[in-house]
Amino acid sequence: MLNRPWLRCVAGTYTRTTALDILINAFLSEPESAAPPQKKQIISLGAGTDTRYFRLRSKNKHHNLIYHEFDFPSVTTTKSKTVLNNRLLSNNESEVLITEFKSPEFGMPQQDTDWGISSSRDGKPEVTYCCHPIDLRQVPHLKDAKDIQGLQTDVPTLIISECCLCYLDLDTARDVVRWFTDRITSVGIVLYEPIGVDDAFGQVMVSNLASRGIAMPTLEQYKTLADQKARLLDLGFQGDGKAGGQEAETVENIWQNWVPSTEKERVDRLEGLDEVEEWQMLARHYAVAWGWRGSNGWEGWSGLRRA
Ligand SMILES: C[S@@+](CC[C@H](N)C(=O)[O-])C[C@H]1O[C@@H](n2cnc3c(N)ncnc32)[C@H](O)[C@@H]1O
Repeated sequence: MLNRPWLRCVAGTYTRTTALDILINAFLSEPESAAPPQKKQIISLGAGTDTRYFRLRSKNKHHNLIYHEFDFPSVTTTKSKTVLNNRLLSNNESEVLITEFKSPEFGMPQQDTDWGISSSRDGKPEVTYCCHPIDLRQVPHLKDAKDIQGLQTDVPTLIISECCLCYLDLDTARDVVRWFTDRITSVGIVLYEPIGVDDAFGQVMVSNLASRGIAMPTLEQYKTLADQKARLLDLGFQGDGKAGGQEAETVENIWQNWVPSTEKERVDRLEGLDEVEEWQMLARHYAVAWGWRGSNGWEGWSGLRRA
């Protein structure tokens, strides 16, 4: 089993990134009638070394966007060095790279200093990218939205967790999401994490993780796509499809149905995905789940077909 795991790993990363790109681009897209364009917000939980914000910038999709990243101080410190030392990352004269945002009035104890990018809007400085060096387990103990630098509660907001909430215990993972959804009116979420713990392959995944001292509580609780959808429903992502709803798909189905055949052939050539059954097995054990709630900001998602 998994003789050359890196092959499946890269194809999995490709498919996950494609799925997230599709969902995020649809979220950021504007309905034809919208004028002026609506400001939107993205909250990336456990962003790690992810460069999505800078990819959006390189495609000029960062205007009217506030982007937050959360991770442990040890992770964000390394990232800040990379970002702050790269002048190319701030290529607009109206923007300023901020090494240390002033701590919010009710900042968290033991919180390191936020850093990011500030932009001038109507003559006033405004946070556009903010990296928060904190342990997410502290979030449910915060009093209000002002405790998070630059957080807005009145704009459509997408929360992203790419393999992050799965490391928290179930109650904390739920409370972190609820902290945001209790404060933000129009809000959606995209989760990417492993599922399918009940079969032989899933058991090997769990024991491999355990042998490295890693526990993923969500893996035991949300074993199927239906479980992931029920989780999103329980978190309040519900509605008639237009103003709310929840969906989930395996990476296998997303690869099959969302990735154009020309791209599949290209990745196949690069990767040499000759061990198709192994790849399918792995891809069946990862899910992307997405939910949304609110009357505006989700128009782009209604047109997305399920895989
Ligand atoms: C598997 S990595 C995924 C990184 C990134 N989302 C990606 O997809 O490339 C999980 C990330 O979650 C972060 N993380 C896990 N538990 C966390 C916590 N309690 N508070 C903040 N970050 C956490 C880790 O530091 C790590 O960067």
